[in-house]
Amino acid sequence: MKTKILRPTEHNFAVATNELKRGGLIGLPTETVYGLAADAFNSEAVAQVFVVKNRPQDNPLIVHIHEGYDLFNLVTEINDTAKKLMKAFMPGPLTLVLKSKGTVSPLVSRGLDTVAIRMPSHKTAIALLKASNLPLAAPSANISTRMSATTAKAVKDELGGKIKYIIDGKTSEIGIESTVVDATGDVPIILRPGKITSEQIKKVCGSVQEVQKIAEGQKVASPGMKYKHYSPSCPVVLVDDIKKQYYNAKNEGYNPVVLGLKINLIGFIGKSINMGETIEDYAKNLYSSLRKAEKKYNYILIYAVKNEGLGKAIMNRVNKMVK
Ligand code: TXA
Ligand code: MG
Repeated sequence: MKTKILRPTEHNFAVATNELKRGGLIGLPTETVYGLAADAFNSEAVAQVFVVKNRPQDNPLIVHIHEGYDLFNLVTEINDTAKKLMKAFMPGPLTLVLKSKGTVSPLVSRGLDTVAIRMPSHKTAIALLKASNLPLAAPSANISTRMSATTAKAVKDELGGKIKYIIDGKTSEIGIESTVVDATGDVPIILRPGKITSEQIKKVCGSVQEVQKIAEGQKVASPGMKYKHYSPSCPVVLVDDIKKQYYNAKNEGYNPVVLGLKINLIGFIGKSINMGETIEDYAKNLYSSLRKAEKKYNYILIYAVKNEGLGKAIMNRVNKMVK
């Protein structure tokens, strides 16, 4: 199968809609990361998502809708917690776990009685969701355990030959996956940290809980959190003593590179990739910098950021790739 990157035109939204309606998969841009989208009502299409990604069978998918879509087609209840979060953060980089009506393919929620719902704010994503008027089950558009893709080109590198179309929506502005929140109870529970922080959620709902580390094999609220994730094809190590680590790696025969913010890299004369000036830049450039790094080098040294606010979401990803 040849994979084509389509420009975001009305004509191409119709092409993509046809592909989705016949059970095909589409590379879909969003403001967080690109998704691998399938018609959430079509079990064969959803099954194919798991095959294409080599995704573990117990890891459920997020369903994407546009703002005008009737959510009660998919869920039985929207409680006050969910209403507040929707009002404050949707459309945007937030996914809400709600009580499922059982109308989407059972392969979407993998036996859970909930369904994860997200309304992207990316204009191309919205245009396709409106054109098709389908709820789209879409995990991140990468092979399982690899880092997510933030450009159409990265999706093609990752899934080329396995899907027909990727819609080009330029570089994803946020760069890391949405905040996943269980909103089935009175207190919202953050299952995966993201751009929408626990502080922001607490402000809106009055309280918030955060799910901490989950051991392999443990029964968990958000199954995706237990897997090794987001990893490039070579070792990734947190920076502690930059010069020592860099030259040790060289002495061991590696071709190392350092990833950090501009401020981290001042005065460093080895090979480096500058991810920008702010932690927002860091999030936006993280996956593309890792992809660039693994192509040209074989040992990645990466600077940590402060584990607070958006930094929590960043370190949640980075800690899963370091050895
Ligand atoms: O930003 C994003 O969320 C991107 C874009 C494409 O929307 N999608 C994404 O999907 O990151 P994925 O499949 O890579 O991650 C989905 C996460 C997993 O950790 C999964 O376990 C969790 O959401 N999840 C999905 N349905 C769930 C449910 N019913 N209950 C609890 N967790 C759920
Ligand atoms: Mg993913």
